[in-house]
Amino acid sequence: MKQTIVNELKRHAGEYVSGEYLSRMLDISRTAVWKDINELRKRGYIIESSSRKGYKLVFAPDILDPSEIGVNLGTALIGKRIVFFDEIDSTNNQVKKMASEGAEEGLVVVAESQTSGRGRLGRAWISPRGTGVWLSFLLRPLISPQEAQVITLAASAAVVSAIRIAAGIDTGVKWPNDVVLGGRKVCGILVEMSSEMDRINYIVVGIGINVSQNEGDFPEELRERAISLKSYVESCGEVFKGSGRSKLINTLLRELDRVYKKVYTGKVWEIIEEWKKCSATLGREVRIAVKDDVFTGIADDITADGRLLVKCGNGETREVLSGEVEVRGLLGYI
Ligand code: BTN
Repeated sequence: MKQTIVNELKRHAGEYVSGEYLSRMLDISRTAVWKDINELRKRGYIIESSSRKGYKLVFAPDILDPSEIGVNLGTALIGKRIVFFDEIDSTNNQVKKMASEGAEEGLVVVAESQTSGRGRLGRAWISPRGTGVWLSFLLRPLISPQEAQVITLAASAAVVSAIRIAAGIDTGVKWPNDVVLGGRKVCGILVEMSSEMDRINYIVVGIGINVSQNEGDFPEELRERAISLKSYVESCGEVFKGSGRSKLINTLLRELDRVYKKVYTGKVWEIIEEWKKCSATLGREVRIAVKDDVFTGIADDITADGRLLVKCGNGETREVLSGEVEVRGLLGYI
């Protein structure tokens, strides 16, 4: 109901829409329209009212709209089912729970805010209301657990592509899947797998994109390393127009579907090629920490199954499957 009012007010941008028109359209009383308008005001909408002319939308906050997220999605798999939460502990936790109850591949869980968002290596992921994209999706790929790294690369390539399409901003990927902008992290991806020795039960991919936080909104210890799309655009002296988070999610689901299709049609090499094109790692100096083993070198290439090849000073090339990777010039590695 409230969403229809918002849509009507947006359709008549800059004009008044009469209360009578809205009440007829929605088949509710004018008092009910007035109550809904007040509810919208509480959610951050600025709506002018005039007893003669009706209501005019002055400002619409960027609130997630489930109908816009799923509009004309046309995906083969990702987003076949979308579940929306206003608040949840962690979308990854929720998808895992639904996966263990038998949910089908392609399920997406989106939240307006997370109270216990999780990052890699047991870290927390701050996910405040209204400022980011916090979502997870479920895959049940018919590949071996050893090949699963490609899912990580596919997800990060899809994020880069979606941000370019929806917001016109070029980001890059720090291997394997931190999406970076202006040398700082704008998106993190948490991939969690349940598997047996030779078979994957399910993979949950959680994506967190910082969209409209101001620099001061990040905790102090992250400020040097984190950025949002908005604060990046503003640091370039421009105004962030964004595209709205619902549209960004819609684009992201399409891009994830496009890239994931390559996994089940046997075109994994195309994912590797696409990842290389948006890499912010290859050709740069990296410092790798695999437990106590710390070494530096030049990130030279990635293998067909997504391992990073690092050329070390002694001429040796080392293959890295996982570990902490720092890239000189990105996220504070000097
Ligand atoms: C990282 O540490 O880089 C990964 C961060 C992943 C955050 C996302 S937000 C949506 C999903 N739910 C979570 O609890 N984490 C992921």
